[in-house]
Parts: sequence; structure tokens; C-alpha cells
Amino acid sequence: MTTLLIDGSSRPHSNSAAFGERLLVGIPHQTLHLADAHLNFERDTRETDQPQGDASDDYAQLFAQFQAADTIVLSTPVYWYNMSGQLKVFIDRWFDSFSHGVSFAGKRLCLLIVGADDPVHKAQPIIEQSVKLSCDWLKMTFMGTATAVADLPGDVAKLPVLPADAQKLRQILTLTTN
Ligand SMILES: Cc1cc2nc3c(=O)[nH]c(=O)nc-3n(C[C@H](O)[C@H](O)[C@H](O)COP(=O)(O)O)c2cc1C
Repeated sequence: MTTLLIDGSSRPHSNSAAFGERLLVGIPHQTLHLADAHLNFERDTRETDQPQGDASDDYAQLFAQFQAADTIVLSTPVYWYNMSGQLKVFIDRWFDSFSHGVSFAGKRLCLLIVGADDPVHKAQPIIEQSVKLSCDWLKMTFMGTATAVADLPGDVAKLPVLPADAQKLRQILTLTTN
């Protein structure tokens, strides 16, 4: 089993990355920081004679890591009550791969959310719903979600214990990834 953590924050030493790293302690994994990548917006070329896709940025490299993983942990800060633009653009770009016949079927996806303004009630349902439906559409298995309340860098690292939903998700991953 190969596990990949995707940090959807725009800042270094993010709470999103810290949340993922704490979730995955003891579980071998690789980490990808979207803030370090150059990623262009999705361009829908279906009604043109252009091929679907954009080779001028880092998408192919990022997607190669995604493709190699069985279990993917998406971790996002809440931006305006939704996922970060960085993560949304990466997910939008999956359409390029899908259009070229790449199968997502069977991959296992987890979702971590970090926000400052009551994210459990104000953001988690929206983000979870869109990721769950995308999993269904692409025939990936949604493994679960966990949410942390945090704002300043270091807030998640300082939490004495992981939130209960993260502990539950960690248990599932520990049992199923080794
Ligand atoms: C552009 C922007 C928009 C934000 N919008 C929200 C929001 O709508 N709801 C919320 O709970 N927190 C919001 N926040 C706060 C972040 O979610 C919070 O600081 C989080 O810990 C950042 O995680 P990170 O360190 O992984 O980037 C926003 C932060 C930024 C920079």
C-alpha cells in the first residue's frame, strides 16, 4: 500500500500539512505540497480541436505521484467556507487525466479540513460533499474525513491530542495500510 498526503495549503509549515503528518505518524507515506507546484487552472477544451490537458505546468508530475498511490489523504485549509483554490485546481485538473482514459477506480481517499471559524458546521459539510461526490463519480472509495479548528501556523502541531474523528480515521488507516 502506498500512501500520499497532499497538502492543499498556500503557506509553508501549514496546519493542513501538520494535520496530515500527525494523522499518518507510523504509516509510511510521501507528502506533496501544492504550494510548491506550478499549477494552471483547468481549461475545458472539449468543444475545440485542442487536446484536453496542459503540459506547461507541474500537473503531470503531481499526478504521477497521485497515480502511484493507493491511499490519498487530501488536507485543505478552509478558504471562504470551501477548500483552498490550490486543492480545487488540482482536483479540477483530474479531468485532464480522466479524459485520457486514466482510471481512478479503487483508490482510497481521505479528507482533512482545517479552519478557524467553526469549520465542523460551516465548512466541512460543503467540502466533504464535493469530495464524496467526486469519489463516487470517479469510482474511488471515500474513507472518511476529519476536521481541526486552527488558525495560526503551529496550531495543529500544538493540539494535545488529535480530534476524535481524526483518531478514528487514523485507526482505520493503521489497520488497512500496513
Ligand atoms: C484566504 C483565506 C480565507 C479563509 N477563509 C476561512 C473561512 O472561510 N473559514 C474558516 O474557518 N477559516 C478561514 N480561513 C482561516 C484558515 O482556514 C486557517 O487559518 C487555517 O488554519 C489555515 O490552514 P493552513 O495553515 O493549512 O493554511 C481563511 C484563511 C485565508 C488565508
